[in-house]
Amino acid sequence: MFKGKKILLGVTGGIAAYKALELTRLLVKGGAEVWPVMTRAAKEFVSPLSFSTLAKNPVSVGLFDQPNEGRIRHVEAPEDADLVIIAPATANIIGKIAGGIADDLLSTLVMATPSPVLIAPAMNCNMYINPIVKKNIHTLEGYGYRFVGPAEGDLACGYEGIGRLAPVEEIFDTAVAMLSPKDLTDEKILITAGGTREVIDPVRFITNASSGRMGYALARAAWRRGAEVVLISGPTGLARPTGVTFKEVVSAEEMYEKSMEYFQQSTTVIMAAAVSDFKPETSHSKKVKKVKAAREIKLETTIDILREMGERKGGRKLIGFALETDDIIDNARKKAVEKKLDFVVANGPASLSSPTSTVTIVDKDGLAVDIPLMSKDELSEQILDRIKAL
Ligand code: CTP
Repeated sequence: MFKGKKILLGVTGGIAAYKALELTRLLVKGGAEVWPVMTRAAKEFVSPLSFSTLAKNPVSVGLFDQPNEGRIRHVEAPEDADLVIIAPATANIIGKIAGGIADDLLSTLVMATPSPVLIAPAMNCNMYINPIVKKNIHTLEGYGYRFVGPAEGDLACGYEGIGRLAPVEEIFDTAVAMLSPKDLTDEKILITAGGTREVIDPVRFITNASSGRMGYALARAAWRRGAEVVLISGPTGLARPTGVTFKEVVSAEEMYEKSMEYFQQSTTVIMAAAVSDFKPETSHSKKVKKVKAAREIKLETTIDILREMGERKGGRKLIGFALETDDIIDNARKKAVEKKLDFVVANGPASLSSPTSTVTIVDKDGLAVDIPLMSKDELSEQILDRIKAL
């Protein structure tokens, strides 16, 4: 995701500084070259050695520590960075940037950089709601600085409220989005994910094997590329993707209702959900005894959401998934025609619950293209490229 990208990571003095270590790890894992810059106060909270070990790069601290007049020894100049992230950002650094003050290495670099800057504030809740801090953030947003968070919750100072550093995954996702080409800004994409649950009684349900990873990866990728994304998900336990409108549903019926609510406004629908094909005719409010259940539970088919959408397709692009064990391509071709899909992403059960997938994309004219094994993140990009090309 960050292959070949240079990120200057500014860390300022707050208790959340330790979370910037995890951010460093994620950025490096994502392929970024990370150059940490710490303020002197940040050093009181976390050792530079921790950052240099994770970043595999030296940490810069003082403006006059460098031999070559304020230029970071290893980042030749601030304009070399593709992105500057400040996480955590104290009220102090936000105020300094907003006021044009450059009195230490980090504030000097921020003032000098032409690169995009992402700021993740973390501070006491009363500081965050202080009108001076609010005004500073507003001023910086006006200049194009991007903010992520803060989040609400327990604060290290003992207070509860808004001021926690945004989850590092959210900072990471926002950074990826800032460096991604925005080629899907005209799209409003409705994505479904995960398996639905059809309740038999309070302790039993029918479902499909599905981790939801494919749909979530698609939602993250589409948002990064500038699309407006609605993600409707069955129960998965996965973290909500950053930036999307997220709706959790349980049954096929609920997924149908929720999907139809957003269908009208959508330009594209990707049905990655493993919608249960059956549900019990009756769902019981009390636990059914097993002997009775084995004898009496009757099943009926659920509503086919994608087929319903196909009937009302209009100018929308409709993409389906097909999980098959036999005659994968033929079955996918049939589904594409019957449900009026632009293309079907067909796969076998091996990709269920896996972070990778091998698929065949079958379009409405029956043309099949094999896509080799790749991560669901990479596959998402390929699927979105195809949607863009439609
Ligand atoms: N789908 C749907 N509503 C359902 C069942 C499936 O919208 N009740 C969607 C899935 O999200 C997927 C596509 O239809 O995008 C194909 O689903 P699949 O289960 O492979 O096929 P079915 O049409 O249900 O047919 P079968 O189970 O007989 O293969």
